[in-house]
Amino acid sequence: MWRTPVSRITEPKAGPAKDRAADRTTERTQPLPQPAEVRRSPVVVIGHTGLLGQAVMRVAGERGLRTLGVSRNTVPGLNLARQSDLAPFLDPLAPSLVINAAAITDLAANEADPSAALEVHARLPGLLADWGRRRGTPWVQVSTDHYWHDIENTLHAESAPVSPPNTYARTKLAGEEAALRDPGCLVLRTNIVGFRGRAGEPTFVEWALSALAGGEPFDAYTDVWASSIEVHQFARAMFDIVGLGATGLLNLASRESVSKADFIAALARAGGYDERLARRVSRPPRQRPRRANALGLDVSRAEVLLGRELPDAGEVIDAILASPAMPKATVRMDLDLGADLEPTARIEGGPDVELA
Ligand SMILES: NC(=O)c1ccc[n+]([C@@H]2O[C@H](COP(=O)([O-])OP(=O)(O)OC[C@H]3O[C@@H](n4cnc5c(N)ncnc54)[C@H](OP(=O)(O)O)[C@@H]3O)[C@@H](O)[C@H]2O)c1
Repeated sequence: MWRTPVSRITEPKAGPAKDRAADRTTERTQPLPQPAEVRRSPVVVIGHTGLLGQAVMRVAGERGLRTLGVSRNTVPGLNLARQSDLAPFLDPLAPSLVINAAAITDLAANEADPSAALEVHARLPGLLADWGRRRGTPWVQVSTDHYWHDIENTLHAESAPVSPPNTYARTKLAGEEAALRDPGCLVLRTNIVGFRGRAGEPTFVEWALSALAGGEPFDAYTDVWASSIEVHQFARAMFDIVGLGATGLLNLASRESVSKADFIAALARAGGYDERLARRVSRPPRQRPRRANALGLDVSRAEVLLGRELPDAGEVIDAILASPAMPKATVRMDLDLGADLEPTARIEGGPDVELA
């Protein structure tokens, strides 16, 4: 077990990847574009088009909060991982809160371009930490649970030593450490599930429902465990915890860690699918990139702060089934989710297509 010192991985490696990183981070020569309508004191959600970002925007709306979402294409030319962009963009907005839900969640993409991973996962939170310290603005760094490999299902406390197995995990860990340089930052480790609705890139739940609806047997891993929480459940608990003024590193997830096989079986039963389609198997021995399998998080600290229990796996599945994006029972048997979500070849890749 080891922790990656930030200094070890904040500089990109030599070679073409370094050149690409340099291109992305050089000083800008053009004036920074601003959103058409700059409204003061919004909740700024970085990564608002993603699985979590969409839910955060929705829950913020439910609570009457003004939001401003930022992703890669929101403002032409804007790159918040560039020092010359971040403060000039955020300062005029005077956000009341910043939530950083941006990430590259495809493990293979992280291996293919480690400097891009470093930029989004470590440099961006590092710049946010500098900005947050200067402004005194609260902000949230959403992190991961992709840190442990074990033969058994374990609930890891915030203090548990970590062992990041791949570029995604190493750069996310560097991001945690960079974020925590700002004592006003809240770093949340989690595992999220839900609907993103992005064609060709299904989330774990979208993939599982598509596979169940497909009617063909598929593999469901018995030795990959996670404390998955439905994205809106996460977003609501996150706003509650932010409202309590919490800072530092905190696990925020389901109170129960279950295997992917058990999760899919429970989803199938609750959703009216044939659970026998999910073959209960061990994960392949030599997956590339290497990946964590024992992702369970101990959420007792968050529960004490919140004064309530976080959802168990059954309540997470209930929330998935209650989602407006959940395919309706009457159309489910005719559903060809795969056509919209994922080519067959990638569905065959296994139940952990939810990569991060
Ligand atoms: N999904 C999981 O299973 C999981 C598990 C544990 C932790 N997490 C963490 O949860 C958070 C949210 O993940 P997610 O599943 O919602 O991810 P996601 O669906 O892949 O969305 C990622 C978001 O980040 C944005 N983004 C990527 N690069 C960016 C950049 N350079 N600048 C600004 N925005 C950028 C994307 O924008 P575009 O629209 O431009 O692509 C998108 O909005 C991340 O911190 C992730 O590490 C996820």
